[in-house]
Amino acid sequence: MVQYDFDRIIDRSGTDSSKHTFDAAKGKTPDMIPLWVADMDFKAPDEVIQRMKDRCEHGIFGYTRVGEGYIRAVQGWFEKRFDWKVPEEWMVRTPGVVYAVNAAIQVLTQEGDAVLIQSPVYHPFNNCIVASKRRTVRNPLVYDGKRYTIDFEDFEKKIVEEKVKLFVLCSPHNPVGRVWTREELTRMGEICLKHHVFVISDEIHCDFVFSGHRHIPFASICESFARNSITCTAPSKTFNLAGLQTSNIFIPDETVREQIKACKSAQHCGEPTIFGLVACQAAYECGEEWLEQLLAYLETSAEKVSAYFAQNLPQIHVVKPEGTYLLWLDCRGLPIPPEQVDAFMLEKAKVWFNDGGMFGTEGIGFERMNMGSPWSVLEQACARIVDAAKKL
Ligand SMILES: Cc1ncc(COP(=O)(O)O)c(C=O)c1O
Repeated sequence: MVQYDFDRIIDRSGTDSSKHTFDAAKGKTPDMIPLWVADMDFKAPDEVIQRMKDRCEHGIFGYTRVGEGYIRAVQGWFEKRFDWKVPEEWMVRTPGVVYAVNAAIQVLTQEGDAVLIQSPVYHPFNNCIVASKRRTVRNPLVYDGKRYTIDFEDFEKKIVEEKVKLFVLCSPHNPVGRVWTREELTRMGEICLKHHVFVISDEIHCDFVFSGHRHIPFASICESFARNSITCTAPSKTFNLAGLQTSNIFIPDETVREQIKACKSAQHCGEPTIFGLVACQAAYECGEEWLEQLLAYLETSAEKVSAYFAQNLPQIHVVKPEGTYLLWLDCRGLPIPPEQVDAFMLEKAKVWFNDGGMFGTEGIGFERMNMGSPWSVLEQACARIVDAAKKL
């Protein structure tokens, strides 16, 4: 069995990587360790790279259809990993999950309609809602100092009072790292059905789930949830393929599916690129062992980061992740105003995280740390923060 080496540092300079492009005008300089945008500093599985090379060697990159093999690979993955059968006719491909979330907002709501999110949450949800002139309604998650849960009373109250039409669910949740249980999903799904709220379930992080937890696809719970939702998936986070812009969206309801397809057509949005298709198929066919090893590596990294702060700087608390490769750091114990935590990380510690406040006001004083890097890099970042904190 191949042992993958996630400790290896791979130089990404000169590749125009978003994560590693430092822009001094925006206050980002090369002496900072970049642990922000959600891609990983690990190579994709060997089989994915090999199949892309083989396809490249062929040398003809003409118009290409989605083949039978691609469809079977996607279906096979969801059946094997989540015991969920996805009929071929449900599938629509988009150049990214945010594209799909945005398209769904366009076709399922009208200007001025209310769309519900659970803050702090992945910020493009709010951006899409605002850019489409819809109204963002928030059901803030409840933090007890250790773990986040849902305030179901508030969830239903907001839906009724604000006349919510659409709910964008983040499952597993970025940035707080919750993997929603069947009970939680069922309760949300039932409330949505009762009040005719359609659900967009963004499950892009579904493959990152740690010991003791299980990802349940929202639409797999029952047929009525399936018909009342669309599920957004992609191999992009899982296998580090974000630059290939290939997502698989599952839309059980025929009318909604046709609306989303029409939205795509109106924008002349075709199928993914050859390399997106080749990589996705290869990853779902051959990437499972790589993923299992990666999950073990990430889980250990999360434990080590948590232990590092607990030992050296307990003013920073790492919220234990149940899933995703994003760590949510509660930095409100530091002797600085919560609004200044991100500037401290950048300017004093020289570590580039995502400022928690960008995910909603509930995230102020928190930082999102992308742990998809070799442990030595994460350790260096932690050490810099501890050193900088000593000078406060
Ligand atoms: C919850 C969530 N949805 C969507 C995306 C991005 O999806 P895409 O690049 O496919 O648009 C991310 C990336 O971090 C994410 O965390």
